[in-house]
Amino acid sequence: MLLSVLLLLVLLLLVSHAEVGYNGAVLTYSTKDVQVMHRYKLSYSSCEGLESRCTGCSNIEESRGEWCLGGWYTGIWIDNRNSISSVSAGMFVEVGNRSDINKPNSSPQTSILPVVRGPLNCQRNISLLTFDPDGDKVICRYASSPPECDTCTPPSVLSLSSSCMLSFSPTDSSSEGPYAVQLMMEDFPRETITLIQNDGSTSLRNTNSAISKIPVQFVFKVDPAAPSCTEGEYLPRFLPPTPEHGAQIFNDVYQTLEIPIRAETSQSVITELLFSGPINVVKISSGSGHFTLRWTPSGNENDESHPICFVVQANVSSSVYQSVHRCVVVTVGNIPGPTVTSSTVVAPTTPLTTSNPPPRTSYLSVLKLKISTTLSLKGNHEIILKAIKDELIRRGLHPDIKVYLRSDGSVEVKKQLPPSG
Ligand SMILES: *[C@@H]1O[C@H](CO)[C@@H](O)[C@H](O)[C@H]1NC(C)=O
Ligand SMILES: *[C@@H]1O[C@H](CO)[C@@H](O)[C@H](O)[C@H]1NC(C)=O
Ligand SMILES: *[C@@H]1O[C@H](CO)[C@@H](O)[C@H](O)[C@H]1NC(C)=O
Repeated sequence: MLLSVLLLLVLLLLVSHAEVGYNGAVLTYSTKDVQVMHRYKLSYSSCEGLESRCTGCSNIEESRGEWCLGGWYTGIWIDNRNSISSVSAGMFVEVGNRSDINKPNSSPQTSILPVVRGPLNCQRNISLLTFDPDGDKVICRYASSPPECDTCTPPSVLSLSSSCMLSFSPTDSSSEGPYAVQLMMEDFPRETITLIQNDGSTSLRNTNSAISKIPVQFVFKVDPAAPSCTEGEYLPRFLPPTPEHGAQIFNDVYQTLEIPIRAETSQSVITELLFSGPINVVKISSGSGHFTLRWTPSGNENDESHPICFVVQANVSSSVYQSVHRCVVVTVGNIPGPTVTSSTVVAPTTPLTTSNPPPRTSYLSVLKLKISTTLSLKGNHEIILKAIKDELIRRGLHPDIKVYLRSDGSVEVKKQLPPSG
């Protein structure tokens, strides 16, 4: 048997003593010049120490310090009602050129705030952004087994539709509290396509085969009952000219884009706009529910579609009220982008992290590796695993790593760092 799979690995190296809790992450990628680009959003439940972990990230912080959005995370979820502890967020990527677009696949593009919340007595729909740059069909499901998640218990208070809508129905106070939400978003071609690897070998993917699977993880918080569920009273209501959820905005590279956001409440006070988007998006607050998100895409961001999601938050004394979230997609550059030319697809290890990671934290790296062997997987499991492990060590990973070959063909690599101090 010829094993000629191109694999992309997400490595989660967990710490044993987390200082701050993990709130979730979204990993996406797109293709540009045949390179696979990776974009990631990781959140913390405490902002302390985030600066030192996240060189070159612009961190977004919630005013009461409930969470931060940045470039690093620890290996333990914040306390939650569905008892999820260890973090695992595997991403699956098919490499190789798609016959329909002559370039590699791009994953669906999505984003979400690290903490989404709603009062326990109010029905709420969380509609995830499902923008696919290649026009593929996008489907959501709960993460089902490692490495998609470590413990995979879905949140009991939410029901998920395959169209990526999470619904919360009114409940009682026994369900209050935070829930870890671990989803996978997948894209499927709309007709059978061929994947062409750079050694010329081909394989078919039909409309039932996912060409990428990306993790979407966040916290859903069930808050105490609100005096009213009507938007515009306690819960902020969006007003025009706020763009609709899912709106696609085209913007030239280096040109400044301003997204106006307006919201109102009659019984609570709007305190802030929370958003998640490219790192150089700037928020401008002009008071009484008037906000602007300003962004000037750089050359790096050309020919890509970037999601920006936002919510407006309000309060009355210690009660916090969130609007529904809205997301827009900003497509940068001329559409369609220039055709791609490049040389090699088998890239060396591409760390997602900064070049100078602090010790005693978790690492997240992605690399693409091609394995060719005439051995059959059956009966030669150990030999193949050892070959993969040797190669990873040769590329700089610690000799203590544990390598697992999963039945779906993906490879998981784990390393437990020793506790320090
Ligand atoms: C949520 O979605 C369901 C089904 O699409 C709809 O019937 C319901 O009105 C929505 N609820 C809210 C609060 O938007
Ligand atoms: C994909 O196509 C580009 C341009 O046609 C080519 O340079 C590249 O080598 C191809 N990649 C693979 C994996 O075949
Ligand atoms: C909202 O919360 C802030 C910070 O916790 C507090 O200073 C402010 O008084 C609250 N606003 C209202 C209307 O209760």
